Amino acid sequence: MTQEPQGRSDSAASTVQKDGTLSVTDNRTGRNYDIEIKDGTVRAMDFRQIKVDEDDFGLMTYDPGYTNTASCRSAITYIDGERGILQHRGIPIEELCEHSTYLEVAYLLIHGHLPTEEELSRWVYDITHHTYVHENIKSFMGGFRHDAHPMGILLASVGALSTFYPEASDIDDEEQRNMAAIRLIAKMPTIAAFAYRHSLGLPYVYPDNDLSYTGNFLSMLFKMAEPKYEPDPRLEKALDILFILHADHEQNASTSAVRTVGSTRADPYTAVAAGVAALYGPLHGGANVAVLKMLQRIGSVENIPDFLETVKQGKERLMGFGHRVYKNYDPRARIIKSHVDEVLEATGKESPWLDIAIELEKRALDDEYFTSRKLYPNVDFYSGLIYEALGIPTEAFTVMFAIPRTSGWIAQWMEMLRDPELRIARPRQIYTGPRDQRYVPMSER
Ligand code: CMC
Repeated sequence: MTQEPQGRSDSAASTVQKDGTLSVTDNRTGRNYDIEIKDGTVRAMDFRQIKVDEDDFGLMTYDPGYTNTASCRSAITYIDGERGILQHRGIPIEELCEHSTYLEVAYLLIHGHLPTEEELSRWVYDITHHTYVHENIKSFMGGFRHDAHPMGILLASVGALSTFYPEASDIDDEEQRNMAAIRLIAKMPTIAAFAYRHSLGLPYVYPDNDLSYTGNFLSMLFKMAEPKYEPDPRLEKALDILFILHADHEQNASTSAVRTVGSTRADPYTAVAAGVAALYGPLHGGANVAVLKMLQRIGSVENIPDFLETVKQGKERLMGFGHRVYKNYDPRARIIKSHVDEVLEATGKESPWLDIAIELEKRALDDEYFTSRKLYPNVDFYSGLIYEALGIPTEAFTVMFAIPRTSGWIAQWMEMLRDPELRIARPRQIYTGPRDQRYVPMSER
């Protein structure tokens, strides 16, 4: 059986022989070079030998936004963007959503295999028993303004965790790495929920070890005076599926940020804080907020044609559409869409935005502007509708993305540390500014 090469995850991977050589002729010098092709990829450093003379630095590759540059080899997540396929450790996302749980998927991402019953119960136990944060973290969070953005609070608090666990900076110690993984996955929902309660001026709710990962999170968000919060199992399950869908997505902006910071041998809390920072942006995790604001702005189905016209004129983007890797329907969007009704039924709410979203998707997928650019709904198009139905304020949507992505960030960080080819991430540039200028004294300027 011919296998698709490892380490490449796009539709260019096929059954055709991928290895071989690339013959390059430098027309400046007439010299020929044979460049090795491995896994359908050439090494940028192999081009450095191509020089016009001995003093030449050598040929570089230029790739703003890294649209065609593999930064690592990875065995965690496979995406076929043309066919809309997403697999974790080879298992399709659809199967994971149907049969697994978020914590099991987190284990799979980090450890590379599905856990045995014993391994899973140990893992769940460990995570459940590390959900508390140090009381000083709580006081630290109390210092934020009442209207502080929850992502800002999360970013700062995750970074602050490194000061509470200085031993985590011993990144060569496997035990410390595993401990940091457990602590980060365990504490992320606690910090997120505290940030949410902070914005409402409500007292923080401590973790409840009797509840599931998502049940406990709902309790920390919504528990009021009742002695024990009892999560609706339908919401607990829907949230768990959302968490599975957001767990990892190979070398996206935030994961690359984690790897970049991690490549400096910074501790895992600091590296993950970099991931939270990258996720904050509206083109990445912040898109789920932008989608809801967009739907609210459109206001009604009649306004869709005018809105799409402004998008096509390039005045704004259709948020929740398009993806660097998916040139087909994002499989995560399809799964989320199939759960919207269920969540609305469980909450007894009606979403004023659902009809607009469905019609907007339909019209966009019928429109040449979007189809010719292969723009399809991505994970963020429908997730906000579920978060809203769950009663989560718009500002906190991106935090809902950060919680589950933590397992992916850690899995990628751990894989990176084991990579024999690991070097500090340090891109090159093409310098375009002036050179050899003289310093002009202030009086002469
Ligand atoms: N609405 C309208 N036009 C778009 C959109 C969009 N959402 N996305 C891309 N295009 C157009 C773009 O203008 C360009 O057109 P042209 O060729 O005429 O210049 C073409 O499609 C290619 O776009 P690009 O910006 O070169 O694509 P990219 O791979 O650099 O950007 C993206 C990917 C996700 C940033 C972009 O599609 C986008 O801004 N989408 C909206 C934001 C969004 O939903 N982000 C969530 C991504 S999924 C979750 C996550 O990873 O965080």
